[in-house]
Amino acid sequence: MLTDNHGRTINYLRLAVTDRCNLRCFYCMPEHGLDWLERKELMSYEEMLRTCTLLVSMGVQKIRITGGEPFVRRDMLRFLTALSRLDGLDELSITTNGVLTAPLVPKLKQIGIKSVNLSLDTLDSNRFFAITRRNEFAKVMHTLDELLEHDIDVKINAVVMDGQNTQDIIPLVQLTRELPVSVRFIEEMPFNGDDHTYKGLEWNHLRILHEIREAFPLLRKIQDPAYSTSANYHVLGHKGNVGVIAAYSRTFCGTCNRLRITPQGELKNCLYDDGVLNIKDKLRAGLNNEQIKQLLLDAVNKRARDGWEAERARTLTRGIHESMAAIGG
Ligand code: GTP
Ligand code: 5AD
Ligand code: SF4
Repeated sequence: MLTDNHGRTINYLRLAVTDRCNLRCFYCMPEHGLDWLERKELMSYEEMLRTCTLLVSMGVQKIRITGGEPFVRRDMLRFLTALSRLDGLDELSITTNGVLTAPLVPKLKQIGIKSVNLSLDTLDSNRFFAITRRNEFAKVMHTLDELLEHDIDVKINAVVMDGQNTQDIIPLVQLTRELPVSVRFIEEMPFNGDDHTYKGLEWNHLRILHEIREAFPLLRKIQDPAYSTSANYHVLGHKGNVGVIAAYSRTFCGTCNRLRITPQGELKNCLYDDGVLNIKDKLRAGLNNEQIKQLLLDAVNKRARDGWEAERARTLTRGIHESMAAIGG
């Protein structure tokens, strides 16, 4: 078992495989995109696989592959297949915008992917365009259908934005009536690739919940799975569930079980730190597995007790210019 310097179990790795994205959600990146990394700056599949193998041998049991859309990276499926064979890995899942995923769903099922988190902020194609600046609504909806068709658990992630999609809250909850999906509403965070455009948190978790409760009096709290980012609910009579992720106004630090690795190989102990170890550089410097494991252990032993608290002052004075696409959420 891997534990940090505060006794927290570390068993979950979020691996962001690409900074590129085929959408331009305004809460994540500017219209012109980001300064995309060059290929040699990215971790190669071999480097990612070696790092994952070491982390799994140290106690990581769950790996989540994140994008944007992880499948914008060529040969992604081959990498996923290799990962799915790792001894000791209990769960391999994906967070995606769903634009390229639909045709791959049968293969994902085949290699044992049991759950996919799909970003979908609205059920209206015009608003989808307004938010993502791309006309890909139909493809994302097709992905949703395919996932359900193949019995893969789906969590829909919807970022709640004042003046953009608050009218979608009720229809998204309504979706859980007939579909066995979990719809999770997320507080908007200031990771939009530009530190000047975040307007502040108009819709916090309490306001979101209030809105849902008003329309669905039969909303009941249900037990949250261990380490859950969302507080989870169920509307009596519905097939699916509803969740609210207080991503900005609260912290999950007390039970934080996760490490992050960015596309360029930066290990992040916390969503809010700048990275504590560049694994890719160490691998390329020729270190052996034992040396890499020791560096990983050292890093995990320097985790802040409350990363958000520690970083709050910094983010308030300097802003956050990072894009969520470069972190993977
Ligand atoms: P599960 O593994 O299904 O529980 O998913 P998850 O909620 O860990 O992952 P997902 O990729 O679906 O992320 C959903 C939202 O939660 C995203 O907006 C993430 O940025 C946010 N999130 C995930 N981990 C953290 C965290 O450690 N801190 C904060 N503040 N937000 C997080
Ligand atoms: N605030 C909150 N969530 C965000 N995501 C991307 N950018 C932001 C932001 N600024 C979400 C995506 C995806 C998840 C990994 O992170 O919608 O579902
Ligand atoms: Fe949108 Fe996710 Fe792409 Fe960012 S990474 S532009 S949130 S789809």
